[in-house]
Amino acid sequence: MSTNGKKGKKQGVAVLIQLALLLLLCACGDRGAAGYRQITQDEALQMMEEQTGYLIVDVRRPDEFARRHIPGAINVPDETIGSEMPEALPDREQVLLLYCRSGNRSKQAARKLADMGYTNVYEFGGINTWPGETVAEPEEAAPDPNDEPAPDEDSPAEPSEAALDYLVLVDKNHPLPEGWEDEIRLERFTNAVGDEVRVEKTAYEAYLGLKEDLAGQGVYVDLDSAFRSVAEQQAMLEDFTARYGEAYAGTYVAQPGTSEHHTGLALDLFLIVDGRIVYENEDLMRYPEIWARIHALLPDCGFILRYPGGNGYPYEPWHIRYVGPDAAREMAERGLTLEEYLAASP
Ligand code: DAL
Ligand code: ZN
Repeated sequence: MSTNGKKGKKQGVAVLIQLALLLLLCACGDRGAAGYRQITQDEALQMMEEQTGYLIVDVRRPDEFARRHIPGAINVPDETIGSEMPEALPDREQVLLLYCRSGNRSKQAARKLADMGYTNVYEFGGINTWPGETVAEPEEAAPDPNDEPAPDEDSPAEPSEAALDYLVLVDKNHPLPEGWEDEIRLERFTNAVGDEVRVEKTAYEAYLGLKEDLAGQGVYVDLDSAFRSVAEQQAMLEDFTARYGEAYAGTYVAQPGTSEHHTGLALDLFLIVDGRIVYENEDLMRYPEIWARIHALLPDCGFILRYPGGNGYPYEPWHIRYVGPDAAREMAERGLTLEEYLAASP
């Protein structure tokens, strides 16, 4: 075969592409015990680029889908998939490429579809780490090439959100930066014990994802306290001092003005175990296995365990801090606290 004529080159390229496709299909061809194929995001991207006839299925909630999804994806929320074939998926032979936010719900959905007899289910993890394109709104019509690109989470509509420093350091040596409280956008809700909780909006979205992923494992959490003003921190310090004494309060509660809770990015979880609320610190300490399962999911949801011990405060399994998924994963992989991570960053 000629290797230097134009036609020969084209044929060679075609053969190479076919070989690559074959290799790709072989690499992920075996269905696992769960009945679906788990592939990497690069493999999914390659399938989308090189194949036709597949369906990209986003199994998150509709509000998450509307905010940002992979172009061309349809939304079939995991919680709507039971034992009946979903209307949107009429062909059991079709190649289905499933994803969610972090990869937990898409695995559950993939297993359910495989159990229903779908034979070409591929699962490729979460949009959190998706290397390809995303769009913000459901596509109703072909986009006009003259239109501005649709905004997504990387280009939020409100400038204050874009400006927020999710790696802000507030600790014993770094008080809350001036003007911070004017910059944050807070979400409010009422928790299971009837208290109003305020959380910075992006951290709140991330928390909802974490809560949902945990519920999928039978672990139930709620938020005790997130944003606290300086005055509220003062009141809390006084309350702890009255209840537990000055030494305990001084050990566990930050001095007003230096609490990470002022940022709205620090969240204190409480547990619901067998339908019972577990709320007090000493009771929360009795569930190390549950905390281990919670902590294992933190990085993919953008959180770190802020006080693992030895960095200013005793071990607080309930106090998590939003820093964003990239930084959270890096800190978890390298075993760094926020202070160490920031010191190591150029
Ligand atoms: N419990 C943490 C240290 C705070 O009060 O901010
Ligand atoms: Zn806390």
